[in-house]
Amino acid sequence: MPKRIVILSGAGLSAESGLGTFRDKDGLWTKYDLAEVATPEGFAANPALVHGFYNARRANCLDARPNAAHAALAALQRQAEVTLVTQNVDDLLERAGARDVIHMHGQLNRALCAACGHRWDAPREMAPDDPCPACARPATRPDIVWFGEIPYHMAMIEAALAAAELFVSIGTSGEVYPAAGFVQEARAAGIPTLELNLEPSSGSALFTDARYGPATEIVPAWVAELGA
Ligand code: APR
Repeated sequence: MPKRIVILSGAGLSAESGLGTFRDKDGLWTKYDLAEVATPEGFAANPALVHGFYNARRANCLDARPNAAHAALAALQRQAEVTLVTQNVDDLLERAGARDVIHMHGQLNRALCAACGHRWDAPREMAPDDPCPACARPATRPDIVWFGEIPYHMAMIEAALAAAELFVSIGTSGEVYPAAGFVQEARAAGIPTLELNLEPSSGSALFTDARYGPATEIVPAWVAELGA
């Protein structure tokens, strides 16, 4: 079994838990204009609309359950040095028992004060004039990284990639950078790369190995093959 594995996940990891993906047939971006709900400009223009969008996603998340793929990754983390980097903002990996998950696009269950930078556990419903618990100013926003903002924890992710013996990408279309570039970094470092996805992603030609199918089938099968 490789000693140090970096695993990037996307919406496809949580799809079978009932949480939508973004770019599939009936994905979120086919129903909402991402410029309105996933950019700083959209939030500035209509904070109530944006809070409503994330309140609905937060409620879906609370109703969702981790699936067999989340559980398999948590089990793998107990057998090897696994860095779990996710683009997902749900907490299903944590609820499956995973530790130290790196949420590079933020988390639905966290709130951020745009005025003072304070972060806290988000309530079920957030509204534009909710006061920040630290500075009391009505500047609260979802702790989500929007398009045009800098993803979180990039130095930690780069360090993990530099030390990895295997890079695995699960359930992501490979459409959004910097996450979509991690496979190129792994290739430049000369390590094997594996894509586990429902179908070939836009970056599939860059991977040295690939398995296609539903995450709840191919992720547990891959982890079992590793002997975890
Ligand atoms: N099992 C495995 N893969 C799946 C499944 C499944 N059951 N269902 C869908 N997929 C795959 C799709 O084939 C697709 O390649 O998951 C991928 C989902 O792609 P996207 O909808 O683009 O989601 P993601 O790659 O996570 O998006 C990246 O874009 O909008 C931003 O911030 C948002 O984090 C998100 C980022």
